[in-house]
Amino acid sequence: MRTQVAIIGAGPSGLLLSHLLAADGVESVVVETRTEEYVAGRIRAGILEQSTVDLLREVGLGDRLDREGDPHRGIYLQWPEERHHLDFVDLTGRSVFVYGQTEVQKDLVAARTAAGQEVHYGVSDTALHDLDTDRPSVTFTDEHGVQQRLEADVVVGCDGSFGPSREAVPAALRRTWEKTYPYSWLGILADVAPSTDELIYAWHPDGFAMHSMRSATVSRLYLQVPNDTKIDDWSDDRIWDALATRLGHGQDGWQLTPGPVTDKSVLPMRSFVQQPMRHGRLFLAGDAAHIVPPTGAKGLNLAVADVALLAPALTALLKGDAALADSYSDAALRRVWRCTHFSWWMTTMLHASGDPFDEQLQLAQLRWVTSSEAGATGLAENYAGLPIGF
Ligand code: APR
Ligand code: PHB
Repeated sequence: MRTQVAIIGAGPSGLLLSHLLAADGVESVVVETRTEEYVAGRIRAGILEQSTVDLLREVGLGDRLDREGDPHRGIYLQWPEERHHLDFVDLTGRSVFVYGQTEVQKDLVAARTAAGQEVHYGVSDTALHDLDTDRPSVTFTDEHGVQQRLEADVVVGCDGSFGPSREAVPAALRRTWEKTYPYSWLGILADVAPSTDELIYAWHPDGFAMHSMRSATVSRLYLQVPNDTKIDDWSDDRIWDALATRLGHGQDGWQLTPGPVTDKSVLPMRSFVQQPMRHGRLFLAGDAAHIVPPTGAKGLNLAVADVALLAPALTALLKGDAALADSYSDAALRRVWRCTHFSWWMTTMLHASGDPFDEQLQLAQLRWVTSSEAGATGLAENYAGLPIGF
């Protein structure tokens, strides 16, 4: 098989890249280990930055988002006895949309299927070859057990945190940074109308809690839990009780309405960055190059920002102009490190560490962010998202 761009991974990075390339007349083939149903069913984050929404609209992926997505002006930040609204529109003129990554994935699959995109699901043994040459290739075993070789001009690793692409950059040439946080999130999806109009991020001495949502009838909530938490130790009642305490049920008459839990999982929290995001004819995008803890809602938005830079860079490279491809890694990493810092900052400001000194610093920071326009604007600018190309 031969194509212009071989894409490893059919998550949001890989499928959006194939979509943007196709709009520029560049052909690609995508290979993915999981099934189409598995990839489309994964429950992930749900906040789209303004620049992500603008891009999806521009490339014809905004119809259902505009019909079913929910524009939010900001978020609530709270701690016991206090709840403050930060209005991103007033502060920065930009805002966010609540629209699940699961929905973005479905829209991408529908668009790529309609366009006849070649995607091989259910592959195994993906391996990358000859990345230092201008004839790189990807080998894999297809879903029928047949060995395949896909030759390309360029290979893009969009294969998330467990894929082979990041390690295809020679060890001597890559540098990585990693931080594992000493807590995890227990996330639930519940068939109940959200008890809030916008997301609540709650600091509490028992641990962080968050109230998010997917629609008018589906809520998504999270609790900070220790890293070794067993999901079976958390009955639905125990989860709702902890959420009620941490989110301030009864405070100023606010009530948390519990409902049937349809999904429950524990998510680790980690920061990871690998650079450079390019080696020869291999480019990395999305979770393959960087992971952020979910507190800043940046994971999907960073993946979209990467491919928004990468698609025009590859299109130009294939026409003989290497300038954008040569600057891709530095340009992408500038935003990656900004979002890595913001995600770390939100995480460490809001999660209980058990240290009484940290606790006082966190409360001092929360008071400043919610009472100073400068403090609030800094959070809003980062949360609602810097422009593509920042
Ligand atoms: N061969 C082919 N595909 C692979 C391989 C492999 N060896 N290994 C992994 N994959 C696939 C995974 O099955 C997955 O579907 O690569 C895909 C990577 O997709 P994501 O993990 O969704 O990563 P990305 O597309 O970069 O999206 C980033 O996902 O984790 C969230 O917070 C993150 O929202 C962000 C988004
Ligand atoms: C979510 O809705 O899943 C979500 C929202 C905001 C975050 C993290 C997760 O910061």
